[in-house]
Amino acid sequence: MTTNLEPSFGGRRVLVTGGAGFVGGALVHRLVAAGARVTVLDDLFTGRRETVPAQAEFVEGSVTDQELVRDLVRHASVVFHMAARNIIASTKNPRDDFEANIGGTLNVLLAARESGPERVVYTSSTSVYGNPRTIPINEDDQVVALSPYAVSKFSGELYCHAFYESYGLPVSVVRYSNVYGPGQRPDNPYCGVVSKFLTSARAGEPLGVHGDGEQTRDFTYIDDAVEATLLAATHPRAEGEVFNVGTGIETSVNQLARLVCTAMERPCEIMHIDRRDVDNIRRRVVNIEKARRMLRWSPQVTLDHGLAKTVEWFLREGFVVSADEP
Ligand SMILES: NC(=O)c1ccc[n+]([C@@H]2O[C@H](COP(=O)([O-])OP(=O)(O)OC[C@H]3O[C@@H](n4cnc5c(N)ncnc54)[C@H](O)[C@@H]3O)[C@@H](O)[C@H]2O)c1
Repeated sequence: MTTNLEPSFGGRRVLVTGGAGFVGGALVHRLVAAGARVTVLDDLFTGRRETVPAQAEFVEGSVTDQELVRDLVRHASVVFHMAARNIIASTKNPRDDFEANIGGTLNVLLAARESGPERVVYTSSTSVYGNPRTIPINEDDQVVALSPYAVSKFSGELYCHAFYESYGLPVSVVRYSNVYGPGQRPDNPYCGVVSKFLTSARAGEPLGVHGDGEQTRDFTYIDDAVEATLLAATHPRAEGEVFNVGTGIETSVNQLARLVCTAMERPCEIMHIDRRDVDNIRRRVVNIEKARRMLRWSPQVTLDHGLAKTVEWFLREGFVVSADEP
């Protein structure tokens, strides 16, 4: 079930940073359909201009540009701050990550402190948990940053919290867990494991699995992630809060590979790549009770069904990238 967004967003001015990306693009489509007047700020680092619907205003620029951010935030009633360097880019260039992910978030919050939007939603990551001691992971479990990306995403959260406490800025944080689905393009270097598997399966190549494949993740369908993000923007109780956004279901990468092959109706050949996964996390599954209880949100799409919808989209788009590309 999806929320009727018109009462909350119809006619309202909304800024989405990173709105030309995978999750941001899906969010912008929902907002535009609800009659919101959406502006997207994106430097097209991984995003694509075509992702942004014609009804939204597109501004090509970076969240590191303080004046530009101030100017755009000033006109917005709600700000979704999703622009970020991804984990691959961040690992290669932590300085750039620092400037975009931490500096960019500070710019958004400083601008929001000045102009006072009704809500700022910051999209963080379950990468901040590192290798958890216990699962499923709760929001108040220990944070152990094992990558520069986890440092920057968590720093953004800390700034959000500090601006909420110090200046009363109405901020909500969502921590996404492995979002997948239509729109996650395999030609984005950080497209996620589902897109990589789909690309291999389509090319009739073995699916490359890092290590033994018994590492687990909590895979979240795009529409469910977007719905939680919208509720974080509208629910009165979400202010100052952090929410896990996942499914509560742990799936190993080997299981995922088999499910992708089933969805593609292909025989499954797995090739174990003797290389560390980028974030080197053994097990990850999050507890979503807080979002269920406070936002009345629950994931609607099972992994089987989500993969079937993703395959349908993937085949329709007819991507011609090689699985060997980064
Ligand atoms: N997809 C996931 O599984 C996942 C998991 C955890 C957290 N997240 C978070 O969700 C958000 C969206 O991620 P996504 O999966 O859509 O990734 P994405 O790479 O598709 O989208 C990020 C967007 O931000 C833009 N961007 C990057 N640096 C920018 C800058 N300096 N100024 C303006 N725009 C900039 C990119 O061009 C891109 O359009 C990010 O904040 C990410 O950290 C995503």
